[in-house]
Amino acid sequence: MNLETQLKNTTIDFNNYAKKFFLSKRDGTALWNAMNYGVVNGGKRVRPFLIIELSKILKIKKINYMRLALASELVHAYSLIHDDLPGMDNDDLRRGKPTTHKKFGEAVAILAGNSLLTLAFELLSDSKTHINPNIRLKLINNLAKMSGQNGLAGGQSLDLLYEKKNVSMKEIIMMHDLKTAKLFEFCMLSPLILSGTNTLAREREYRKYGKNFGLIFQATDDLLDYEGKKYITGKKTQKDLKKNKGSIIKYKTSKEVKVYCQNLADGATIKTKVFRSPENIFNKLIYNIINRVS
Ligand code: IPE
Ligand code: IPE
Ligand code: MG
Ligand code: MG
Repeated sequence: MNLETQLKNTTIDFNNYAKKFFLSKRDGTALWNAMNYGVVNGGKRVRPFLIIELSKILKIKKINYMRLALASELVHAYSLIHDDLPGMDNDDLRRGKPTTHKKFGEAVAILAGNSLLTLAFELLSDSKTHINPNIRLKLINNLAKMSGQNGLAGGQSLDLLYEKKNVSMKEIIMMHDLKTAKLFEFCMLSPLILSGTNTLAREREYRKYGKNFGLIFQATDDLLDYEGKKYITGKKTQKDLKKNKGSIIKYKTSKEVKVYCQNLADGATIKTKVFRSPENIFNKLIYNIINRVS
């Protein structure tokens, strides 16, 4: 199966799972509507894809890994809802549709974000995710670290701070690592934890892949803001420079960004045991993402 078909099939499968999960929680409230909207209103499902494909290779059961995939997407969906709020990036359009606060109001959007984040931990803490409480605890501990002060939220706070400050390229990359790459690191680390086959050496390779993948993902997001098309990305473009955001485009031409991404992809594959083969799906994916258009 080629990468494109695999991406499509996994996305359909994940979307059905997420839809069913939310329907089982439906309670007629505005909060549920906003939570559901923030998750099932589209999205490329890149984080679940990493978890699902890695889990298949590690021979984890579907009933277990789908919960992990959903948890990662819930954290992502929360981060987007909050990222778009007037107090943050103040965006009206996401995934080609009105942002969650535009549709449901700010207060409900804030609470929907909070509830999606906590729901991710509820999912992981349930024995349906894994029978062994030590494994569940390790998953929870890692997701907490990757989401909080030294992870996604910390990165988001730097992103906002850098609108008012002149910073170095190194600081921008550090911010990309926190706001975006940490969650990708979790996506690569968590199936390994769930499989119970994690050794320190393996963890290092998987984490490195997740980190480099995330750095590429955010660099190409900055690039798409600069030269992408709104009708393809589903988001308003050309916003970062207008807002004086700490975009990588301030430091590199688009050609240089591609070279930077290529080096990161090489670093995550060539020197490793697991991702070295060009036939490996993770090898294909990380090079593929460099030229994404949405
Ligand atoms: C957008 O993420 C925000 C970043 C971390 C760059 P995605 O590009 O994965 O967003 P969706 O889920 O496909 O909408
Ligand atoms: C991406 O934020 C990072 C997170 C949401 C954690 P951005 O502000 O760079 O991404 P878009 O362009 O709004 O999706
Ligand atoms: Mg932002
Ligand atoms: Mg934004």
